[in-house]
Amino acid sequence: MEAKKRIFSGIQPTGNLTLGNYIGALRNFSLLQDEYDCLYSIVDLHAITVRQNPAELRKACLRTLAIFLASGLDPEKNIIYFQSHVHQHAELSWILNCFTYMGELSRMTQFKDKSQKHADNINAGLFTYPVLMAADILLYQTDLVPIGADQKQHLELARNVADRFNKIYGDVFVVPEGYFPKVGARVMSLQEPTRKMSKSDPEDTYIAILDNPDIIRKKLRRAITDSESEVRFDPENKPGVSNLMSILSALSGKSMEAIQADFANTGYGAFKDAVADAVISALEPIQKRYAEISADKEYLQKVLTSGAERADAIARRTMRKVRKKVGLAPLEL
Ligand code: AMP
Ligand code: TRP
Repeated sequence: MEAKKRIFSGIQPTGNLTLGNYIGALRNFSLLQDEYDCLYSIVDLHAITVRQNPAELRKACLRTLAIFLASGLDPEKNIIYFQSHVHQHAELSWILNCFTYMGELSRMTQFKDKSQKHADNINAGLFTYPVLMAADILLYQTDLVPIGADQKQHLELARNVADRFNKIYGDVFVVPEGYFPKVGARVMSLQEPTRKMSKSDPEDTYIAILDNPDIIRKKLRRAITDSESEVRFDPENKPGVSNLMSILSALSGKSMEAIQADFANTGYGAFKDAVADAVISALEPIQKRYAEISADKEYLQKVLTSGAERADAIARRTMRKVRKKVGLAPLEL
């Protein structure tokens, strides 16, 4: 049997994970767990490139882990762990810094955006953020990286750095490819449906995976639509309605045509309620499992320890090779 391809993805432990994260990422992750060899890292080191409240960050880290597990990711089949628990991320990141050019990093649009947003704290970590991301990916000899469009530029950098390193030292790293799942709509903001739904935007623009049913219904009722009353898929002219249709379709499996037919004569009120029903019934079981899992510290401890150990075993092999190639003093003569 051919070896399974390896998948790596990182998710930041900040704020609330949203319905967008669920439909676009988490739900697909659990579909991949049998076919691929998957690592999912909660990237706490990336999170501190912007100032964080320590107590909040600690909570957000555990919350993210519990949500991963609650949404169906099996910690036996997947390696789920915290980035900072595997020290090789920081180590390889340093080495790759020495193979990455200032010019390349200056071109990163996320750096430009973030340095505008956090003008009082344009730290070196924010600048070299993509190098840490490259280290995350290359440490595990990753074949495929599921990412959103906003991370394409960072993945391209990781590929270039891997290539550069391989050209000098021979084949050390697998050069990773992006992975864009077939299903997985881009979920848009409820208030500004031409922008992606994001946990860093105001509360009323997104549905959090842990939002209770009343809040979900309220947020969807207030979602921006348009002045017509026709439920029709037309992202250009009807971005709000089309977004709600995509959500309903992603959760119910119904086609756009079927949804359009179902709500041909109902107006937006009934349509929004149906979207709310679908979202609530998709999230309720996750929330129930979340409550159980997050109360079970022993289980969480087991998952995070075993995840870090298994990740470390792979990372160690890559680092041994890298250290030797670049000529770092051997641990054993
Ligand atoms: P982020 O929350 O931006 O760190 O993204 C984490 C993962 O969730 C990435 O794989 C994104 O592609 C996915 N994701 C985030 N927001 C959305 C969204 N609004 N629609 C679809 N996928 C999303
Ligand atoms: N930068 C990614 C984001 O903000 C998170 C991330 C960190 C990541 N390391 C990664 C994604 C490695 C994929 C692979 O979404």
